[in-house]
Amino acid sequence: MNSQAHDLVDTELHQAVSQVGLDVEYIRSRGNTMWARDRHGGEVPVTDFIGGYGSLILGHNHPEVVARARDLLDRDTPVHAQVSLRPEAAAVAAVLNRILQREFDTDEPYFAVFANSGAEAVEVAVKHAEMDRRMRLEELTAAIEEHIADARTALTEGSAVLAPAVLTAVGLPATAAPESALDALQARARTLGVQAPGPRLFTLAGGFHGKLLGSIQLTHNPQFRAPFTALGVQPRFLPVNQPEALRPALAAERTTVLDVTVGAGVVDVVERDVPVFCALLVEPVQGEGGIVPLTPEFAKELQAVCAEFDCPIVVDEIQTGAGRSGAFFASSLLQLRGDYYTLAKSLGGGLVKTSVTLVRGRRYRPQFELVHSSTFAKDAFSSGIALKVLDLLETDGGTAYRTAALRGARLVQALEAVRAEYDDIISDVRGLGLLVGIEFADRSGVGSPMVRQTQPAGLFGFLVSGYLLHEHLIRVMPTGSAPNTLRLEPSIGLTDDEIDRLATGLREVCEVLRANDDERLTAFLGARRF
Ligand code: F0G
Repeated sequence: MNSQAHDLVDTELHQAVSQVGLDVEYIRSRGNTMWARDRHGGEVPVTDFIGGYGSLILGHNHPEVVARARDLLDRDTPVHAQVSLRPEAAAVAAVLNRILQREFDTDEPYFAVFANSGAEAVEVAVKHAEMDRRMRLEELTAAIEEHIADARTALTEGSAVLAPAVLTAVGLPATAAPESALDALQARARTLGVQAPGPRLFTLAGGFHGKLLGSIQLTHNPQFRAPFTALGVQPRFLPVNQPEALRPALAAERTTVLDVTVGAGVVDVVERDVPVFCALLVEPVQGEGGIVPLTPEFAKELQAVCAEFDCPIVVDEIQTGAGRSGAFFASSLLQLRGDYYTLAKSLGGGLVKTSVTLVRGRRYRPQFELVHSSTFAKDAFSSGIALKVLDLLETDGGTAYRTAALRGARLVQALEAVRAEYDDIISDVRGLGLLVGIEFADRSGVGSPMVRQTQPAGLFGFLVSGYLLHEHLIRVMPTGSAPNTLRLEPSIGLTDDEIDRLATGLREVCEVLRANDDERLTAFLGARRF
């Protein structure tokens, strides 16, 4: 394709990727291999460690997933059957419930709301959480009104007297009429309905939850978020893995309203929590933010604090879920129980775009079904493929999950060996299962001119990616928000040979960087293979 055609899609991006040799055309893919066209028109196999940003736990074009797609098409499956029964989507929800029950040892059902992309699933969770919060607010107002009516009746009938504390609580003198205290309480309860305190949303520094109008505000990176802040929700960002910061942050937002109780001949006053907390969103392992796993201590405190303040937890498993961590839900390894789970990426088997938000039974509001919809959601083609993915993951008692854990451990072991030899170049290797990060040391003050230039500009990881592609036929990428960290998300089909080839390539990169050899580091740009 000529460059003009590319320019209509990615003018700026195309320029940027061509500077580091990533402007390559891939023509075929299977498993962890993608075939690129070289400068002479030949096909060259490249080992892919990016895995569609985590969409390919089963690899590119898995034969059984492809066969399912063919079968669905051959059978003239009705893709569009809105407002009718959707058995394929229902079957996906049923399997996901079975997995939830097993991994979280619960029998509480989770209702499934389908969408198309990850960002949409996140926005479904937040929209639902806000609808639920507003309904809880209305229910609280109605309950207080009812209690006040009961109190009025009891006072009129003489079956109860007003406790002096009620008058004090609303700032009236002890001589004021009991009725006036109830009037004041009623007025306060009613303002809840009309002047409801805005929703309080929490998410973590370094987190990534999508780039749509709502979800971008929940994504921490200011470069992506700041230009659109005026349009969206305003969450509070909490520091990751600092359990001590959680309780004060939620406590600062706690809001109460006064209610009355009638009992033992006395009308008394009590404080009730106003449902101000919409949701707290977390990724079990921050992906785009640089592969940062939540610590078990943080997850435990988060669970406890959210229970204390009745703040719904949205566990964003869009990248970690569907088996990548060594379990279907990475949060199950942390024993972090969500009120909501979001899934996308690998659920579509690398072929289709589908996402689902699972809503805990005790939070679920069926009214949501009447206010939220999407043309493509629940379609039989995507759901039929998701079912096949779930089948492949669940078969043989979950061999796929054990494979993800074992292959991930083998990968980390190989990378750790490289880091041990070059700890001046690679500062950290971390991750969970097949979601692994390699962090390069900050050498912006001591490295070669090329390193000193590219590291502060956030381009270093892309330069290393270009080097590995051209010199070693290995495809990696830094994460968008941690540009010195390479993110690896291969499929469970990852072989020892593929790991060894990555380790060999990395050793060479480290050697070149240690020698401050810019000529070698950039030679591929002058003699491009692709
Ligand atoms: N949540 C998480 C945890 C994600 O990693 C992503 C996307 C999304 C939500 C949004 O999903 O792109 O389908 O709308 N992550 C990609 C990444 C972009 O680079 O990791 P989407």
